Amino acid sequence: MIIDHKLQKAEEAIKKTTQSMNPRYRLGYHIIGEGNWINDPNGLVQYKGEYHVFYQHHPYDENWGPMHWGHVKSKDLVNWEYAPIALAPGDEYDRDGCFSGSAVNNEGELTLIYTGHNYINQEEDTFYQTQNIAVSTDGVVFEKVGQNPVIAHPPEDSAHHFRDPKVWKHNNQWYMIVGNSTKDQTGRVILYRSQDLRKWEYVGVLAQSDGTLGYMWECPDFFELQGKHILLISPQGIESKGDDYNNLFQTGYFVGEYNYEKNEYVKGEFLELDHGHDFYAAQTLVDEKGRRIVIGWMDMWESEMPTKQDGWCGALTIPRELTIGENDTVFMNPVEEMIELRQTKRVELENASISDYHLAKENSSLLEIKAEFDLTDCKAESVGLTVKGVEEEEVVITYHIRDEKLSLDCSKMGKKEDGVRTTELVNDGKLTLRIFLDRSSIELFANDGVKTMTSRIYPKEERLGVMCFANKGEVKVKEFMYWKLKDIWK
Ligand code: FRU
Repeated sequence: MIIDHKLQKAEEAIKKTTQSMNPRYRLGYHIIGEGNWINDPNGLVQYKGEYHVFYQHHPYDENWGPMHWGHVKSKDLVNWEYAPIALAPGDEYDRDGCFSGSAVNNEGELTLIYTGHNYINQEEDTFYQTQNIAVSTDGVVFEKVGQNPVIAHPPEDSAHHFRDPKVWKHNNQWYMIVGNSTKDQTGRVILYRSQDLRKWEYVGVLAQSDGTLGYMWECPDFFELQGKHILLISPQGIESKGDDYNNLFQTGYFVGEYNYEKNEYVKGEFLELDHGHDFYAAQTLVDEKGRRIVIGWMDMWESEMPTKQDGWCGALTIPRELTIGENDTVFMNPVEEMIELRQTKRVELENASISDYHLAKENSSLLEIKAEFDLTDCKAESVGLTVKGVEEEEVVITYHIRDEKLSLDCSKMGKKEDGVRTTELVNDGKLTLRIFLDRSSIELFANDGVKTMTSRIYPKEERLGVMCFANKGEVKVKEFMYWKLKDIWK
């Protein structure tokens, strides 16, 4: 076997940082790096019975830098284990980074398709990007192929942004979409096709911004779900508008119908996929059970990331199953396997009613919380849950009953500036809140995935518990319960 010194060096760097990490914010059941920086999920795939997730990784520093592909795998989507770093940059087509991409099982050969990042002048941030592949037959050791770059240049009418290939097979033909931008800075997704994953033919533009959706579309994904075609993108440069687009960048989707013969995509409006602070660059896979599963990067560019002081940075969301619900909107719910994390269960309220609050005292920071409220004939103004830390720390989830708006307020738990996110949530007399709480994250699934809100939080280690509250009136609580969750990394 050829020893790859770049990979070996990266492994050594990681081993070194893990010796001095501060554990206070380390997540207990989320995918995180072993140490130092990670961002986007990459190469989601099920291969030889295991789920594989790769991620953008800088093994030498807690800040973003020359991108490698870190790697975890799992038999059940719940318990993850580290595999050796899969890709290191430094070849002539990926000199300064192995950027985001995807993975496919090509008749037993696990193939990673990724972007090679090459600076022309790093200070001026001029660069070119290429598409490349690396293959493996054991799902652990990858070899970049001799044909790289498999796509050396974007089309003529394109700007230099040309990255994040997503590959899939349809009718015995491989397809690839790539995130791209026109010369005049309009975000778009372009399409290629191939017989062998090596030679690619440019087909054309699959979708493009109408002028309101940003200058660059990162991390595209395209798939069929319940007979519809979903295009997932992470656009840069959309202006914020009311409750929408309040993060620096956002991940969102279109639902439409696609015609492969004509490369014609007729689609609805662009909708944000998550409404919290930290959800970006989401990627999907379809698993052997036929489920479409999505994982996002649970952070946002340029936000405060206090874990950098602790020797690590970046996390991925829990795996979520996508479905299409009412009005052609995409619902996200935790994959059913997540219940495997449940340990002790406590029912706090059942068929009760509250007009002020009920505190469930609980010091653990790894919790799944479920609350169901009956809002028929309810006169109260709002209802919700508060995660109580110590010394006034709290995260507040409020449902404003008349306005039909759901808000997540993290301003007293690590997001002092711009700590509140709000989204519309229509109710038909019922509100359910399901929350996954970890040491430095909160993921909220409202009304069975109609809306989700995901944010990083940075509390002190002590916690008082979770409070269920009602404001200015009485609310019927069908149930309010929680489970302590297992720490998979211990
Ligand atoms: C998205 C992104 C991708 C790129 C990667 C680099 O967060 O900017 O477009 O491939 O991160 O790490």
